[in-house]
Amino acid sequence: MTRHFLNLADAGGNALSAMLNDAIERKEARKDWPKGKVDADAPLSEHVLAMIFEKSSTRTRVSFDMAIRQLGGTSLVMESGSMQLGRGETVADTAKVLSRMCDAIMIRTDHHDKIEELAANATIPVINGLTDLSHPCQIVADLLTLIEHGKALPGLEVAWLGDGNNVLNSIVEAAGLMKFNVRVGCPEGYDCDQSFITAAQESGANITIHRDAMEAASGADVIVADTWVSMGQAHADEKIEAMMPFQVNDMIMEQAKNDAVFLHCLPAHRGEEVMPSVIDGPQSLVWDEAENRIHAQKSVLRWAFGQI
Ligand code: CP
Ligand code: NVA
Repeated sequence: MTRHFLNLADAGGNALSAMLNDAIERKEARKDWPKGKVDADAPLSEHVLAMIFEKSSTRTRVSFDMAIRQLGGTSLVMESGSMQLGRGETVADTAKVLSRMCDAIMIRTDHHDKIEELAANATIPVINGLTDLSHPCQIVADLLTLIEHGKALPGLEVAWLGDGNNVLNSIVEAAGLMKFNVRVGCPEGYDCDQSFITAAQESGANITIHRDAMEAASGADVIVADTWVSMGQAHADEKIEAMMPFQVNDMIMEQAKNDAVFLHCLPAHRGEEVMPSVIDGPQSLVWDEAENRIHAQKSVLRWAFGQI
């Protein structure tokens, strides 16, 4: 069975734990090495990862490129606009051709249906590098960052402030798999996907919705923010106005536990979803979080190839 990673549930909680352990071990094993040096065991030697981008990216592009290099393989990067896909070739035909030429596909796209169609027609692993629905690879890096900083996941209180978007959907999904709780601080009308909430709650996670940002942040172990306007969304003044009370600033951080940490997948908009004093302050883990995209993506790739 080809292993696709469209959402975290495709791997499940046990595999996700194993991926996190693998990432920690591999990161430690190559500490202080030049970043382009191949890992000693080169576990994906001679493998080629095809990357398709239908939206902008810095971290996802660079981290997957570095990840496959460190695992001994190579990548090729394609903007959909320069592919026949951008001129109307079907997703299914693209999947069939890339399956004959490459070993795995990572795609960043808009509608989640597209990645499902790609996976349904591919005979090689397809990995979600962000869709409008979810961003599972980001959350593997986020969980890795929390564990590294001594935050055991079970029972952790994670507060999300802002738009109910793709990143939040994957955090809520992770909560169900790894048994932590999420307080979603979000204005009415901007909630996240109910199916992720229901699945997480059925797995025993406590997911609560708060229309008051202070209440959401109160006693939290982790505060998470993301852009208020995701790629492909209109920049509406009324949305920014609704989001303003959910800005992560010093007052919000004071509501959280003293040793609370701040996460943001980046890119950030200082003065909108987060103030500089927080994202550039001592509780922020955003640079570790960004670096961990490489280590997390290596484990996702190894899982997709049945090595984890
Ligand atoms: N966090 C993240 O996915 O960043 P990019 O959009 O730069 O890939
Ligand atoms: N929610 C953001 C995440 C960017 C990494 C977006 O979809 O644009």
